[in-house]
Amino acid sequence: MLKKKVLKKLNEQINLEHYSSNLYLAMSSWCQSKGLEGSATFLAAHSAEELQHMQKLFAYVNETGSQALVAEVAAPENTFKDLKDVFENIYEHEKFVTGKINELAALTMSENDYATFNFLQWYVAEQHEEEALFKGILDKIEIIGLDGRGLHMVDKEIANRLRQQA
Ligand code: FEO
Repeated sequence: MLKKKVLKKLNEQINLEHYSSNLYLAMSSWCQSKGLEGSATFLAAHSAEELQHMQKLFAYVNETGSQALVAEVAAPENTFKDLKDVFENIYEHEKFVTGKINELAALTMSENDYATFNFLQWYVAEQHEEEALFKGILDKIEIIGLDGRGLHMVDKEIANRLRQQA
């Protein structure tokens, strides 16, 4: 059984991963509406990954004999200025998620809950990878630019990242 404090934070993380999935789905839809098919596909795949992050937490909580909760998920932003705005938002969001994972890890350590601390290490590594991935995309946007054919090139570049990950 998990300690109450730890369970509350894990359930909050479940909700945050669910929100992340919806946010990236909304971004995918925005990209699709602008004809940015590479980015739309990449973001839809990333939305599905976030659902897996949620389900992994969900299964862990239930395995401990505690109850994982399905709660209301806040509506994400659906409108963006341009593709750079989309990826700036993602990068900021992922840094926020990393902060939450770190808080959780610190809590489990102070509560002597080493099993959950150990479980969370997967998320610590994942956040490191995701921050690097999105920073890399932002760097490409900066180098190539979004004017003229730049937007098309960036969209193709983002589609390639998906292939590299698969
Ligand atoms: Fe579940 Fe993108 O972190």
